[in-house]
Amino acid sequence: MYIGIDLGTSGVKAVLVDEAQQVLASETAKLEVSRPHEGWSEQNPEDWLIATFAAIDALAKAYPSEVSKVTGIGLSGQQHGAVLLDGEGKVLRPCILWNDTRAEAECAIFERRFPESRAVTGNIAMPGFTAPKLIWVAEHEKDIFAKTRLVLLPKAWLRFAMTGEAIEDMSDASGTLWLDVGQRRWSEEALSATGLALSHMPTLREGSEAAGFLKPDLVQRWGMRKAPVFAGGAGDNAAGAVGLGATKPGDAFLSLGTSGVVWVTTDSYRGGGRDAIHAFCHAVPSVWHQMGVTLSAAASLAWWSRVTGMKETELLAELPESPDAPSPVLFAPYLSGERTPHNDGAVRGGFALLSQDTTRAQMTQAVLEGVAFSFRDALEGLRASGSEITEASVIGGGSRSPLWVAILASVLGIPLYRLANGETGGAFGAARLARLAVTGEDVEAVCLSPKRAGVVFPDASLRHAYDTAYAEYRALYPGLVAVKT
Ligand code: XUL
Repeated sequence: MYIGIDLGTSGVKAVLVDEAQQVLASETAKLEVSRPHEGWSEQNPEDWLIATFAAIDALAKAYPSEVSKVTGIGLSGQQHGAVLLDGEGKVLRPCILWNDTRAEAECAIFERRFPESRAVTGNIAMPGFTAPKLIWVAEHEKDIFAKTRLVLLPKAWLRFAMTGEAIEDMSDASGTLWLDVGQRRWSEEALSATGLALSHMPTLREGSEAAGFLKPDLVQRWGMRKAPVFAGGAGDNAAGAVGLGATKPGDAFLSLGTSGVVWVTTDSYRGGGRDAIHAFCHAVPSVWHQMGVTLSAAASLAWWSRVTGMKETELLAELPESPDAPSPVLFAPYLSGERTPHNDGAVRGGFALLSQDTTRAQMTQAVLEGVAFSFRDALEGLRASGSEITEASVIGGGSRSPLWVAILASVLGIPLYRLANGETGGAFGAARLARLAVTGEDVEAVCLSPKRAGVVFPDASLRHAYDTAYAEYRALYPGLVAVKT
């Protein structure tokens, strides 16, 4: 029996998975994001722990006998966040999250100090990544920086709190800009460009390796027979890939979550950062992946729902199940800036082509399409960096909307597969990593692909109209940059 925990941005999800890889139960506890200034995005690590305990308490209450037999726990987590700890292991400030854009200027500082950065770390320095955040702290919160002895990513902090061990896995470590991604080891040059040293970093493990044991008080709290082992775990995207069985080179998927991701597994390290394509280690040994990331995917619809005061389901109910033409309105989803392809933390989003006749439904459709166009940007970026994607699975909360998936298929021009358990995501992948850490089985034997619930083909009759709308969408960005500066 295994538990997979996904420390997301909007909540913590814990799943209980049996030896037949059946998800017996899933519990979620919500999290809030604090935005004390424009562009900032923070959470209190203590809240992650409270939410994690709430989710596992609920599993233990509903399934006491199954939870007593848990032998492995896997962690999946929102990437890039910086949790700063002092010499006593105390958290020094709220975690600066992956979608926080304050460290824009610090990216240039980092790359100036470490000119080989893109080749070694695989990625352009982007404000969401961890290293620029630490340069920001060194400049703006000198006392905190001086007290910092250990820097952990969100899920590594959760492990630290639950096991007492400071361990990071390769896939999540890839999002720090401190990892030599090709060599799968910390880069001392990258660390020193941030004023840090190896001593500030946790130990590295592969995602499927053993990495700590649950603390005795928690073993007792959840009535477990013996202390489960933690797996190295993974960043949420890599964990999602493990859950989908996307561990073989060429496997591709789209994740329509708070942020959006176009993922492809690669047989070798393909770094460089062109078009802000990310190159990371996978959560299992000897494979890597590339991905394009759009920062506000399902987050764009959530924002539109807040603005209109309507539930997302109500907004979607005003639209057909598949589009008959693109919306006459355009939407650029740069609500928190954008990564792929612009790497621009300062740009902000916008609607365009509004008229007296514009309806709310057209604006909702424009939001869905704007996000789909940002996925197309990622697909084109991957193509240009040598990874052709001809079909993909689609996961994440947004994939519950048949309309959104239909729009995506037509905008991208590739068939998309909906999965039977497309929403289980990172937590299920984390449970698989736990199993690999416990049993030492072959990755391919455990990481099978889930059943496909259906395929959505691009609508050939919309191809031209969507190509035209995509070209118009591309024209929005320079204008949005111009009004911001
Ligand atoms: C990936 C990224 C996001 C977060 C979301 O680079 O920043 O997908 O991991 O949780």
